[in-house]
Amino acid sequence: MKILFLGDIVGKSGRSAVSARLLSLRAELQADFVIVNGENAAHGKGITTKIYRELKTAGADVITLGNHAFSKGEIKAQLDQCPDMIRPANMEPEDIGISWIVKEVCGRKVAVVNLLGSIFMDAALESPFAAMDRILPEIDADIIFVDLHAEATSEKEIFLHVYKDRVTAVIGTHTHVQTADEQIRDGCAYLSDAGMCGSFVSILGRDIDEVLQRTLNKQKTHFMPSEGPAILCGCLIETDDITNRAVRITRIQERPE
Ligand SMILES: [Fe+2]
Ligand SMILES: [Fe+2]
Repeated sequence: MKILFLGDIVGKSGRSAVSARLLSLRAELQADFVIVNGENAAHGKGITTKIYRELKTAGADVITLGNHAFSKGEIKAQLDQCPDMIRPANMEPEDIGISWIVKEVCGRKVAVVNLLGSIFMDAALESPFAAMDRILPEIDADIIFVDLHAEATSEKEIFLHVYKDRVTAVIGTHTHVQTADEQIRDGCAYLSDAGMCGSFVSILGRDIDEVLQRTLNKQKTHFMPSEGPAILCGCLIETDDITNRAVRITRIQERPE
């Protein structure tokens, strides 16, 4: 089986790139299942039901989130309209939405889990290890994909070594910068960060001038996503059809012309 994952989709730039490219990318790579991280899809922070539907139409099967999951507050009351979207397990409010999902793909059960890292991440209520230990016994699946939305590479690598025998993939999101450390570790695919789908000429998808004004001149600015053409980042994971273990991971990075 081939699972295609795209990292944090940032604002209109990221959404446009995903809408323009995901279906053809999915066909070219012969991906059976597509997961995207949508935590920054709505103007750089959060997601709306309209954007959820946009990403589904674009070719996403499951949408994961992150620390910005509920930055557009209205989504909290509308999660029933987004059945294929999961929010980090270890984040407030804990009692809305779902943090893992199982989908039937090619006759197999594929689970997707969403967790926050706890290092440099104020939104995390508990460690991703405590959350995963709680969730794992509840999951009945052949393949388990984890989107570990975390800042610290060390925490992501530690997570890999704790869970590599019990999950199929640990893919990091949140930093918006793709790392080049893709690997298969004892049948588990790993990448510290998938990178973002957002404006290439930007600061992590955000408007450069706006960030500089804020940082250097201490100006109060409104968060502004950059609107330039997007880089598209993610990875493709291939699993063995008999063992359901990961056998290959390939980074995906498409820069604008
Ligand atoms: Fe993000
Ligand atoms: Fe994030």
